[in-house]
Amino acid sequence: MKKFIKKVAVMTSGGDSPGMNAAIRSVIRAAAFYNLDSVGIYRGYQGLIEGDIEHMNARSAHHLVQKGGTALKTARSKEFMTVEGRKKAYDNLVKYDIDAMVVIGGDGSFTGAMVFSNEFDFPIIGIPGTIDNDIFGTDFTVGYDTALNTAIEVIDKIRDTASSHNRLFFVEVMGRDAGHIALNAGIGAGAEEILIPEEDMGIDRLLITLEKSRRSGKTSSLVIVAEGDKTGDNVFHLAKYVEDNLPEYDVRVSVLGHMQRGGAPSCFDRVLASRMGVHAVELLIDGKSNVMVGLQNGKMTTTPLENAIKENNPIDKEILRVSDIMSV
Ligand code: F6P
Repeated sequence: MKKFIKKVAVMTSGGDSPGMNAAIRSVIRAAAFYNLDSVGIYRGYQGLIEGDIEHMNARSAHHLVQKGGTALKTARSKEFMTVEGRKKAYDNLVKYDIDAMVVIGGDGSFTGAMVFSNEFDFPIIGIPGTIDNDIFGTDFTVGYDTALNTAIEVIDKIRDTASSHNRLFFVEVMGRDAGHIALNAGIGAGAEEILIPEEDMGIDRLLITLEKSRRSGKTSSLVIVAEGDKTGDNVFHLAKYVEDNLPEYDVRVSVLGHMQRGGAPSCFDRVLASRMGVHAVELLIDGKSNVMVGLQNGKMTTTPLENAIKENNPIDKEILRVSDIMSV
């Protein structure tokens, strides 16, 4: 049965990503536009359990669109994984007269949202916010574009050192289970090799291509490695193996880490987050629940949270092919 919505809550959950603030702002502003009350829940599900909730209005979201991180803070809550924890969370929603919720996060956050929504028949819409771009049902997650641009900016700088010293650099980028950042940053920065969890290149084939590239006259080399890649035990092990087997290479490792998660969101992420926030509120008004908003082929779409969680956002084979051709 369609529920009449008067008050909407918004939270960010899981790892922060650039553009989450723009999404929060969009939910709050869209709620105000449609004459709904809104509240912000701090620290994700943990804040909901503890009643860390504040009333918002259109002005609470001012100057938020350009800021990195999340003004609502974020957390990964173990307590929300328990029935008791979720019951406390529900009691707080009732206490604050909250009728519906928008959860901005990744697949872990959506798993919690789905369980909770089914358990308490509570309307929830998901907005995909993660730098990994690993969520099924959207071509882009909020934060991915910014992280990608941060990564290539830094990799370009590493290239300067690599070519000045004729060195081989292994650069690890984020992506726990997905190679989207590595593949696209690798092409964008002109890397010689790109290692991603979706494609097992094999360590010995890496040796062959590096040797070939040295013989072809390349003086510096960059190998971009996704954090979740399984070619070696880790990027340091991989670099050591190459150093031992190709002693003519002067090898260095650089792990970019959390610098990829912070910073002001790109214009693309700000617009994406704004569109998703508006769409999420409109879906709630329309009586929808348990779906994630996405951007597919330039249009706003919805995907059941169940599918968003179960499936992966596959690597585009055409991009892989381009990457192979570029490293010739
Ligand atoms: O999911 C986003 C992400 O940045 C991954 O790429 C990375 O593996 C993970 O989060 C790191 O999480 P944490 O900040 O909790 O160490």
